[in-house]
Amino acid sequence: MRIIKDLKEMRVCAQKSRSLDLKAVFVPTMGCLHDGHRELLRIGKRLGGLLALSIFVNPAQFGPTEDFNSYPRDLERDLRIAEEEGVDIVFTPLAPDMYPEGYSTYVEVGGLGERLCGVSRPGHFKGVATVVLKLFNLVMPEAAIFGKKDYQQLLIIKKMVRDLDLDIEIIEAETVREPDGLARSSRNRYLSAAEREAARAVPEAIAAAKEAFSAGLVEAPLLIGKMKKIIEKQPRAVIDYIKVCDKDSLEDLDKIETDGLVALAVKVGRARLIDNCVLAKGA
Ligand code: PAF
Repeated sequence: MRIIKDLKEMRVCAQKSRSLDLKAVFVPTMGCLHDGHRELLRIGKRLGGLLALSIFVNPAQFGPTEDFNSYPRDLERDLRIAEEEGVDIVFTPLAPDMYPEGYSTYVEVGGLGERLCGVSRPGHFKGVATVVLKLFNLVMPEAAIFGKKDYQQLLIIKKMVRDLDLDIEIIEAETVREPDGLARSSRNRYLSAAEREAARAVPEAIAAAKEAFSAGLVEAPLLIGKMKKIIEKQPRAVIDYIKVCDKDSLEDLDKIETDGLVALAVKVGRARLIDNCVLAKGA
């Protein structure tokens, strides 16, 4: 496994791999790897070719009052996991190299970035799209893998790839969950035992929406009301949003005619938890 910190070295390595017709599959991460990341790496491994992983806590996607400084970092453990999963290249750039003095170019993501998480995290998706484009340019992958837990991020990356004519296939991976249903996330580490208990309400709310939809409930306010009731039973949980929206544009829906996305963000202690599911008639 080759570990590359230097941007130029990464580019030379990517160019060399391309010239040898070695196709790279890329998993971008902010480290603190968990089973969700392992699943992305396993999908990449199955695709064959070179498996590239990046570990970079991207300052550009954190707001001024967010957890950039305290975001969990454990490179030694991450490298062990990368080795176990058969990663070929780990790219670990440094922030001053990615954003040197005077850096000023960003990817504007438009309306998609302003809905759902974009409301309480303004500029977040601009930071995500910018770093992902930079990483794509440095790693030069043929395909990149993103998890559906970050559904809005996935949509935005797919749109960026289309809008900017990038020659990269975006592969979607299912959300990996804890045994009680909580979606795996690096930020789950922030939860105390009592908060972890309260966090179960998030997947429970998703499950309740699924069940109600299967039983014929399609009106957004009623589905949202059901989910809200479950979250509000937990005094430690503070709702940021619960939405029923179009699964492509993320615009609010009044009711689900054929399909729709149910998405929510809930703060439990220091952890901001997100989850979602697509509801579709006849699925
Ligand atoms: O999902 C993440 O971990 C990050 O948002 C990403 C895609 C690695 C960009 O920093």
